[in-house]
Amino acid sequence: MDDAVIITRTDGVLEIRLNRPEKKNALTRTMYDAMADAFVQVDADPTLRVALLTGTGDTFTSGNDITDFQARAANSREGSASRFLPTVSAMQKPLIAAVNGAAIGVGTTMLMHCDLIIAARSARFIMPFTSLGLVPEAASSLLFPRLLGHQRASALLLLGEPLDAATAHEWGLVNRVVEDAALMQTARDIAHRLASLPPQAVRLTKGLMRHGAIDVAGRMEEELRLFRERLGSPEAAEAFKAFMEKRKPDFSRFA
Ligand code: COA
Repeated sequence: MDDAVIITRTDGVLEIRLNRPEKKNALTRTMYDAMADAFVQVDADPTLRVALLTGTGDTFTSGNDITDFQARAANSREGSASRFLPTVSAMQKPLIAAVNGAAIGVGTTMLMHCDLIIAARSARFIMPFTSLGLVPEAASSLLFPRLLGHQRASALLLLGEPLDAATAHEWGLVNRVVEDAALMQTARDIAHRLASLPPQAVRLTKGLMRHGAIDVAGRMEEELRLFRERLGSPEAAEAFKAFMEKRKPDFSRFA
């Protein structure tokens, strides 16, 4: 699993590719850390201007590794994403996402911290937190209602309804939808365009847009506190067990 995140550099663009296709790019602690390290590297290295995130295969990412959720519930250790989320949110240089297929759970919530999002036509955005007995993270409970309005955010976050690429574009979640085969070329062209702009002006503009009056960090912490509690809940235990056993979960016994 050493190559579960592949990092390549072309001129001022650092490309970060989730590369665990046999598990639909489900995110492990090592992968979160590799992404967080890459974001820190982009901000620290004056020759890097832009980060570009994508996935190998037919899935952007299937979200947090569910076996990792189970392990955390068992020994209440710190969450794998606890460094990743504040790091992506605090990034000073632009982050572009090229969404190459399904983006599940944190795969969609992390997009709230990307500056430009290009979606392949096959992309799908799904946040099945409630059906896993969990609550959303990455300040998505604040940022989604703000971006989409309460009703649309409820369909995504309460019901876990999937959003296709065309609707995501119509709703303003993604900048552009392109044919799957054109995804990387389009995303790279945009990344290089951004990388050729005056870097300080780009950083300052991102900062002005990102660091407004809303308390993203505070909401992340509040979500994280609830998320930790939920991981150990009987509802979540049933959801994780059902996923691993490839059956439908049964929540009928819960009050
Ligand atoms: N964590 C751990 N393993 C995962 C995973 C995840 N989030 N997502 C997929 N996998 C594994 C599957 O268990 C399976 O492993 P196996 O081959 O050893 O049985 C493999 O990846 C392929 O997944 P599979 O479900 O067979 O592929 P699919 O094409 O039928 O469905 C998904 C793909 C992504 C739609 C489906 O795997 C899924 O819903 N995953 C869970 C998503 C989720 O709930 N994430 C948490 C969000 S908070």
